[in-house]
Amino acid sequence: MCGIVGYIGLNDAKEILLKGLEKLEYRGYDSAGIAVRNEEGVHVFKEKGRIADLRKIVDLSVTATTGIGHTRWATHGAPSQLNAHPHQSVSGRFTLVHNGVIENYEQLKKEYLLDVALQSDTDTEVIVQLVQIFSNEGLETEEAFRKTLNLLKGSYALALLDREAEETIFVAKNKSPLLVGLGEDFNVVASDAMAMLQVTDQFVELMDKEVVIVTKEQVTIKKLDGEVVERAPYTAELDASDIEKGTYAHYMMKEIDEQPLVMRKIIQAYQSDQGELTVDEEILAALNEADRLYVIACGTSYHAGLLGKQYLEKMAKIPTEVHVASEFVYNMPLLSANPLFIFISQSGETADSRAVLVKIKELGYKALTMTNVPGSTLSREADHTLLLHAGPEIAVASTKAYTAQVAVLAILANAAAQSRGGNLELNLVKELGIAANAMEVLCDTKDEFEQITRDYLSTTRNCFFIGRSIDFFVGLEGALKLKEISYIQAEGFAGGELKHGTIALIEDGTPVIALATQESVNLSIRGNVKEVAARGANPCIISMKGLEAEDDRFVIPEVHELLTPLVSIIPLQLIAYYAALHRDCDVDKPRNLAKSVTVE
Ligand code: F6R
Repeated sequence: MCGIVGYIGLNDAKEILLKGLEKLEYRGYDSAGIAVRNEEGVHVFKEKGRIADLRKIVDLSVTATTGIGHTRWATHGAPSQLNAHPHQSVSGRFTLVHNGVIENYEQLKKEYLLDVALQSDTDTEVIVQLVQIFSNEGLETEEAFRKTLNLLKGSYALALLDREAEETIFVAKNKSPLLVGLGEDFNVVASDAMAMLQVTDQFVELMDKEVVIVTKEQVTIKKLDGEVVERAPYTAELDASDIEKGTYAHYMMKEIDEQPLVMRKIIQAYQSDQGELTVDEEILAALNEADRLYVIACGTSYHAGLLGKQYLEKMAKIPTEVHVASEFVYNMPLLSANPLFIFISQSGETADSRAVLVKIKELGYKALTMTNVPGSTLSREADHTLLLHAGPEIAVASTKAYTAQVAVLAILANAAAQSRGGNLELNLVKELGIAANAMEVLCDTKDEFEQITRDYLSTTRNCFFIGRSIDFFVGLEGALKLKEISYIQAEGFAGGELKHGTIALIEDGTPVIALATQESVNLSIRGNVKEVAARGANPCIISMKGLEAEDDRFVIPEVHELLTPLVSIIPLQLIAYYAALHRDCDVDKPRNLAKSVTVE
């Protein structure tokens, strides 16, 4: 979703801003822009489309050492050059970029801006025009900015340039992520450390409702009431090579291939000196005090949560509910007496999940966040964090973060079971190692999945995924992967559920991908496959060694029955990848989607 960068220093800002925006491309966007300030004034360049399109219109002869930049994912107003950020006040004095959504922008327009000829359809423009109005009333820019912030309802990360304030960027945030990066003779602003790793690895976290004055020598953080806040920087532990594609054509394939390595990193990260996989004592205590766990997540992370419920109930015997964050916040179930909330979020920034976190914190409940991004909002605001150790995930379609989530959930459940004196038959270190090896085998068998994709999906407009028990949840994730990057309409179903309605959609040649990795339901899922085949479907069975039958299209290596999702998802990720590739879709940046969904 939208991304912000800013630079103030001694070098030419344009290239630093454009490179920064390129690093944010993975978040998903539909237009982009930069504004740079020099002694002649503020120069704005913005364009619909990709950063490559923006680069074409940037005037290289303009040199400036201060600037801000933005990638926009449209919410208010269509993707267009006019609605792209930066936005300027009518006089051109103030220039602003914004992430988030201003919920009361219509009301602010009516109250303050009836006489202002707005130039765009965005909620953002209201902010910059308000700063102008308050500045016209005689307020210093910082005060005008602060007065504006006090009126805003909703989420924002903001960077503001004042043509008349030499070499200053005014920054503020509420609910949307924003960092300030520190350097020698320069400072930067970024939605994500990745954008500015090119110049620094020292960052300062910003908190909601803070105003930050950034010059090339200094960063001053203040609360909305003006009180100055001191905060030490942290080192972003990101390796610049982690965010390069290397020899891969797409990040998604790189990230699929990284999954066995991620499993091994997770084993290392969670292994105790005694060689067992475990988590912090405090987390175990929180789990053991809870009478019910509430897992909150969205999309792929929600699918991982569905598997987490299986682990937490089967291994640790703790009753667990899994909820889609965007529904939970408005339709809260009756909670148990001692709930513990578990937030699963790759980015740690998803607004829907954060809305639940804010709500349950107000109610006084405890939360654990499982995230891939240390220091992310959901991590900071929860009581405990479990890291995924998957490394930066750049492709919009989540792959390695999903398998990391599943593995960490298994480790959490296993550790809780152990701490409760449960009788564990599962040697998780060994079984995760076996799963990592099996993942490697599948990653080495890519051609097979390219062929399966050609055989089953080359002309189809839809596809069904079926499974029972654990396989059903993996099917849901397989369907999400396929639809989000290839735009083939895909749905996952519990094998037994099709005949209650959806089987009506089966026609001659409809592809049905069936997973058969669970012994307890092997016969029944095969019965479901027969039902759809009898109605003309083209079934593709992916089974597991030991459970295979003659017509199975692919047999994955044998792994522990609870850990099959780590392995059975890989064929589905690869099928989605090849389907997108064969259809000339933008694999890493599918239409309409954003990596980090920072609006509700
Ligand atoms: C799909 C995908 C999304 C995310 C969802 C939640 O491939 O990546 O469905 O899983 O937007 O994002 P996080 O995990 O960052 O909270």
